[in-house]
Amino acid sequence: MGVALALSFLLCFCLHGVSSGSPSFTSLFTLGDSYIDAGNFVIMAPPAVPVWHDKPPYGMTFFGRPTGRLSDGRVTVDFIAEQFGLPLLRASLLNSSSDNVSKGVNFAVGGATAIDVDFYERSKLVQFKLINNSLNVQLGWFEQLKPTICNKTLLGHRECLSKALFFVGEFGVNDYNFVWNAGKTEDEVRSYVPKVVKNIVMAVETLIKEGAVYVVVPGSPPNGCSPTMLTTRSSLNKTMMYDHVGCLSDINRVAKYHNSMLRAAIDALRGKYSHAKIIYADFYGPIITILENPSRFGVAGADALLACCGGGGAYNWNASAVCGMPGVKACKDPSAFVNWDGIHYTEATYRFIAEGWLHGPFADPPILSALRY
Ligand SMILES: *[C@@H]1O[C@H](CO)[C@@H](O)[C@H](O)[C@H]1NC(C)=O
Ligand SMILES: *[C@@H]1O[C@H](CO)[C@@H](O)[C@H](O)[C@H]1NC(C)=O
Ligand SMILES: *[C@@H]1O[C@H](CO)[C@@H](O)[C@H](O)[C@H]1NC(C)=O
Ligand SMILES: *[C@@H]1O[C@H](CO)[C@@H](O)[C@H](O)[C@H]1NC(C)=O
Ligand SMILES: *[C@@H]1O[C@H](CO)[C@@H](O)[C@H](O)[C@H]1NC(C)=O
Ligand SMILES: *[C@@H]1O[C@H](CO)[C@@H](O)[C@H](O)[C@H]1NC(C)=O
Repeated sequence: MGVALALSFLLCFCLHGVSSGSPSFTSLFTLGDSYIDAGNFVIMAPPAVPVWHDKPPYGMTFFGRPTGRLSDGRVTVDFIAEQFGLPLLRASLLNSSSDNVSKGVNFAVGGATAIDVDFYERSKLVQFKLINNSLNVQLGWFEQLKPTICNKTLLGHRECLSKALFFVGEFGVNDYNFVWNAGKTEDEVRSYVPKVVKNIVMAVETLIKEGAVYVVVPGSPPNGCSPTMLTTRSSLNKTMMYDHVGCLSDINRVAKYHNSMLRAAIDALRGKYSHAKIIYADFYGPIITILENPSRFGVAGADALLACCGGGGAYNWNASAVCGMPGVKACKDPSAFVNWDGIHYTEATYRFIAEGWLHGPFADPPILSALRY
């Protein structure tokens, strides 16, 4: 009896941090691409690949130095970590003797795809050598690290993983961009959606089978609103169609199609693993919400689709003068911009998204209510 009580106290302690009195997770493990990368791309990039996001003004708002994150400060998963009293996750490829992985690690790498990179090379959709950083590779890193994760706890391994929060994504934007940039039609890009979604779902399923219970799966952002896509595609085609907030209709239609297919796949997974809490995180809605009413968010209407940091042009994105290059400046106040560098978002945008994922309305169910069952 005494042992049982002690154990149940321990379980409570693990799941509901005593100091705050509110429920919590014991750790956070994240897979994804450049929207959450905390430095893995900088470590993986071969010397021939030019990297600019390891230079100022990246990191100017929060860290005061570049960290390998593609923003002026924290990204979504950093705000999630803060909410649960966890440390901001370090990049998984960063060797560090001073800490361990018991509270989590970030496996995300910029440019990561849901479909293995060999596919894009073999099919000649991309003409250059890709970094081997796909979803499957990141899952492999997790498997390698797994014996050390949850080691030294009194709980069993599965029990320990069940108290962690996992992120799988965002994945898909890089897959679709390779196909768009190869000059393919909207229908051809759409034809990749089922395979991308299938790979994401397979990864979620693998983690659940290994003991994960809480898994957040972010959808696709409205990539048709990114200054890079707006600049490159508008210059190729003078009759592009734009949606109600000035973004490229075809790209955003594919993003929405991906999201509806992903949601349906998550519903199916919930039926199969009823004990798991699989959360769909809407990455599209919060950004469109800001773009529909920028002044409510402190963003000037004229700046809504412009990058904060860039070297000129209609959307302040210039392929020959990108953020991080010498002489390319950031705007004075990144929190008055939605987009940071032409692709990625400002810390202010990421904070708004993370709040919507934690508390709603941009997650189904909101992370905090999933924890309070
Ligand atoms: C980390 O350690 C591994 C194994 O010792 C080594 O191969 C790798 O190059 C190191 N990575 C960095 C970024 O130092
Ligand atoms: C890892 O960190 C946790 C919490 O900070 C600590 O309890 C544990 O002993 C550490 N493990 C190792 C192997 O250093
Ligand atoms: C990528 O890494 C995985 C896992 O290490 C390996 O199986 C695969 O062959 C690699 N692919 C390429 C293109 O190097
Ligand atoms: C797990 O912890 C034990 C005891 O602290 C240690 O001896 C062992 O090396 C650890 N295993 C791994 C894979 O880190
Ligand atoms: C230009 O965009 C319009 C509207 O999306 C499309 O109908 C047309 O086929 C495009 N033209 C070319 C050359 O891609
Ligand atoms: C883009 O950057 C290049 C190199 O700095 C510069 O020559 C060019 O004028 C810029 N284009 C625009 C539209 O600002």
